[in-house]
Amino acid sequence: MNQDQLKQMVGEAARDEVLKLPAGQVLGVGTGSTANYFIDALAPHCDHFAGTVSSSNATTERLLKHGFKVLDPNDVTSLPAYVDGADEINSLGHMIKGGGGALTREKIIASMAKQFICICDSSKQVAVLGNFALPVEIIPLAKGEVMRQLEKLGGVVSLRLAKDTRADLGQTPSQAFVTDNGGWILDVAGLKITDPVRTESLINQIAGVITVGLFAKEKANVLLVSNAAGVERITF
Ligand code: 5RP
Repeated sequence: MNQDQLKQMVGEAARDEVLKLPAGQVLGVGTGSTANYFIDALAPHCDHFAGTVSSSNATTERLLKHGFKVLDPNDVTSLPAYVDGADEINSLGHMIKGGGGALTREKIIASMAKQFICICDSSKQVAVLGNFALPVEIIPLAKGEVMRQLEKLGGVVSLRLAKDTRADLGQTPSQAFVTDNGGWILDVAGLKITDPVRTESLINQIAGVITVGLFAKEKANVLLVSNAAGVERITF
């Protein structure tokens, strides 16, 4: 099985998981290729939910295309579950997220939700977080100072660039990737995050940081993880 098939399999398992929720509630929906498989699998059942709250413009577009109602989070007071992927997850349910750049809205919706259902293939399971460069969304004018502060934590920091920059065509790869919120993203490589709660709190306190892609406070409550043998369900 290739990774896409594993993502599809776990997306379908998540569909079965959320259809056990009572009908007529609102569902939080994440961003990324695994979340996309989940959305596609759930589409025939969109009437089971009163609506959804979405973690990115890309997810909103996909949900609307499939006939889901997308609500403003400000109009939602109860969210039983949020389903989303992860870039890495440890044995306690702490995650690195933000590979797709949607970390801020993802964290807001995760904080609203009663349970975070993380969906991924087993390549995302790690003993120690940090092999995947940690995304940090920032206010653009704070880039220099936030970079210096992050370097003090021992990481190698780089500004995420827009995907359409073509170095092979002689274009200068200088254009920053811009998030749905108008922020920029610094990717911090080379960290060994042995205390995710502390690291999340430290980075949150740097002036100019909008959101760090460490989800330790808003960790997963349920993990659906796929491998060649099937989908395992783990609770934290
Ligand atoms: C987006 C995310 C994604 O959940 C994460 O990057 C995993 O993506 P994929 O399912 O495509 O592997 O945090 O900001």
